[in-house]
Formats: sequence, C-alpha cells, structure tokens
Amino acid sequence: MDSIPANRRLWNRISSAYQHEHDPQIGAAPRLWGMYSVPDARLNALGDVTGQRVLELGCGAGQWSRALAAEGATVVGLDLSEAQLKAAARAMGAARYALVQGAAERLPFADGSFDLVFCDFGGLSWAPPRRAVPQAARVLGRGGRLVFNVAAPWFEACYDEAAGRVTTTLRRDYFGLDAVAEGDGATSYQLTYGDWVRVLRGAGLVIDDLVEPRPDLGTSNGYNETDPPDWAHRWPAELLWVTHKP
Ligand SMILES: C[S@@+](CC[C@H](N)C(=O)[O-])C[C@H]1O[C@@H](n2cnc3c(N)ncnc32)[C@H](O)[C@@H]1O
Repeated sequence: MDSIPANRRLWNRISSAYQHEHDPQIGAAPRLWGMYSVPDARLNALGDVTGQRVLELGCGAGQWSRALAAEGATVVGLDLSEAQLKAAARAMGAARYALVQGAAERLPFADGSFDLVFCDFGGLSWAPPRRAVPQAARVLGRGGRLVFNVAAPWFEACYDEAAGRVTTTLRRDYFGLDAVAEGDGATSYQLTYGDWVRVLRGAGLVIDDLVEPRPDLGTSNGYNETDPPDWAHRWPAELLWVTHKP
C-alpha cells in the first residue's frame, strides 16, 4: 500500500493547527522524546552527536533537528509535507541545517551517507517499517545508529476510538495492528515486538536497547487523553529502539 500521497495531504492540512497545539510543548527544550516530552538526558538514547552526519526521518517543524544542529551535528531534516518543512524553515535557529522533501520509504540519499538516523513519532510511525527500516539502514555508514521512538502496541491496542482516549481495556487485536487508519486515507504503522525485532535484524541492524520511556507521575500527555491519567506511568506508551549497523 502506498500511503505517501494521503499522508502528505494529511500533514499539509493539519500542520498549522498541529504546530499551534504542540510546538509549545515539544519545542520547549532540546531533546524531548515523545508524547510526554521525556528528556533524553534521562534516557540517554541519542548520545553525543557533535560532528556527526544526522538524518531526521519526518522532522516536522524541526524541534529535534534544530537542537542537534545547535550541538554541532550536520543535520538533514527530511519530511513528506511541504507545510511542515515551511514550519521548520521558519523556526530554524542560528545553526542552519538542510531540509529535504521526501519519504522515509524512498530515501533520496546515497548509501552510507549518515552516522545517525533517528526520529520521534516521525517516518518510522508514518511509513511502513518493512520498507522504511531497510532504507534507514542503507543510508547509514558502518557503526552508524538508527534510534527511533514509536507508540507501543499496548497504547494502540487500548485506544478506545469512540471515547477518544486510551483506557485499560484491550480494544484492538495486538496481532494485525499493522496499519492504523488516521482518516482521509492517511495511515500510521505499528508492528508487534517480534516483528520489530525481525525487521530490524533483517535490515542488518544490531539491537542495542529497547528503552521504554516512563513519564513521572503527573506528567501530562500532550496528545491523547488517557484513563487513568497516570496510564503511561503504569504501562508502556512508547518504544524507543536503539540500534546500530555493524
Ligand atoms: C508527529 S510528526 C513528527 C515530527 C516531530 N517529532 C513531532 O513530534 O512533531 C510526524 C511527521 O512525519 C511526517 N511524515 C509522514 N509520513 C512520512 C513519510 N512517509 N516519510 C517522511 N515523513 C513523513 C509528517 O509530515 C510529520 O511532519
């Protein structure tokens, strides 16, 4: 299935409202992961990027990319949506970085171009992982790292569509979560834990860690309502994979 046109349309349509709603939270400080803005300083997933060639897959308005550029990385922010790229261009700081329109499942870069490929609910949530992971692995050089944060299957399986919130009741099958309809033909993607392992290893990557970001009690989710409010303190809402290319 080709979800590129529909996902591009979706993000072009919602970009302005999305940034209005979420930029104050996700852009508040450098290196914040996921729906709960858990600091990387606590998770230690990304490490030092000084002097590294970095690709962000699905950079949105570049909250992450501009932070890493300011730390001395040579960053390329790739995104499917021209509206999101315009938002990134507007928000760019003194440390300039390149913006490229493209899709995570068809990366327009030569093999071995990067030391780090990463995203936070970006291209590995919005492109089929079975296509996007091999692309990410291809553009990494030896020793390069693929680090990415996605929704946990627990979170997706407990999402109550009618109530518009995540609950403690399993609503969807875990097996077959694969493609999640996001309206107007747009699609996000999800794999089982086993499928993630097989897809990553199948692309020749070594899994170094699977971090499960756990927000402190009382940390609000900027994106979804949960019942109970401390849902993600009790169960994993996100998976942060840390891998490298040997
Ligand atoms: C939730 S945002 C992630 C950016 C940022 N980390 C954030 O949380 O706002 C998802 C981004 O992925 C982009 N996107 C969607 N499908 C994509 C694809 N196939 N390849 C690359 N980027 C894609 C969207 O345009 C959007 O900017």
